[in-house]
Amino acid sequence: MRDQAHKLRELVRGRENKKSKQNQQENLTKTYAITSGKGGVGKTNFTVNLSLALKSEGKKVAIIDADLGMANIDVVLGVAPQYNLNHMISGQKEITEIIMKGPKGLDIIPGISGVEELANLSDYQLQNFIKGWQILEDKYDIILIDTGAGVSKSVVNFILAADEIIVISTPEPTSVTDAYGIIKVIAKRQKNSRVNLVINQIENSKEGENVSKRLSKVAKDFLEVNLSILGMIPSDKNVVKAVKKQKPFILEFPNCKAANAINEIKNELLDIEVEEKSGGIKGFFSKLIGLS
Ligand SMILES: Nc1ncnc2c1ncn2[C@@H]1O[C@H](COP(=O)(O)OP(=O)(O)OP(=O)(O)O)[C@@H](O)[C@H]1O
Ligand SMILES: [Mg+2]
Repeated sequence: MRDQAHKLRELVRGRENKKSKQNQQENLTKTYAITSGKGGVGKTNFTVNLSLALKSEGKKVAIIDADLGMANIDVVLGVAPQYNLNHMISGQKEITEIIMKGPKGLDIIPGISGVEELANLSDYQLQNFIKGWQILEDKYDIILIDTGAGVSKSVVNFILAADEIIVISTPEPTSVTDAYGIIKVIAKRQKNSRVNLVINQIENSKEGENVSKRLSKVAKDFLEVNLSILGMIPSDKNVVKAVKKQKPFILEFPNCKAANAINEIKNELLDIEVEEKSGGIKGFFSKLIGLS
């Protein structure tokens, strides 16, 4: 492990010397991990529609589909991945060759299968990895990472590597309990982590407020985590209609309740982005392979 850390630092340093200092500091990509305790709460719909909302503000956005192997972004958008980040690491493909195009030219990057194996990369694989991530850094302002649900090692690694964590829950008691579970894992692994909360599929604002208040209170009292409420999304039959057509609801029904809620969340998120400094893609992938 120490060997890999050492090699990586040398490689990164070598490449960074070639770039200007100013460029390094100003253009860091901000990474957001979208996750949940329970599956099927709306992570993928949230990620895709929020990305499109951010894109319409002129942001350069990509999604990493970290939930490989499971029917995920490909099902919601009807695009099937041919390659993934493993092909980039192995040198079979350039990063630009694995990026898929979604609606409105949205860039989708199929993630990594076998995150655990990233701890033992050869020099050649590390070089490919770094080359790829530097291209991403130059290409995007924001990357949203659609993680799987639950507390498996690879999900947690993706969550902890990101600049910001967004946990999604519905008002259903099992979903809320499982959201608490994932927040607990985050709090144990990373002191003082900031966690953003989105309540999806609410019937009315009172229900959303009750759930978020309850979850915030237990997170504060038992885990010393300050949950920041990023927003609430109503239960909206237009979401289901759009999913059936494999189209993002924000494009199919731009004025529906869920689309309005996504636009509000987009504004909140852009405020966070201005306030906080990011570790960039370099920080993200270094953490993902366990080096910092
Ligand atoms: N705001 C909403 N209103 C109504 N239905 C919704 C809403 N959000 C999500 N859904 C429903 O929930 C389903 C699951 O959504 P989605 O695939 O985004 O969840 P997920 O958390 O990514 O699931 P998985 O854990 O399997 O990846 C959708 O197909 C849709 O039917
Ligand atoms: Mg999903």
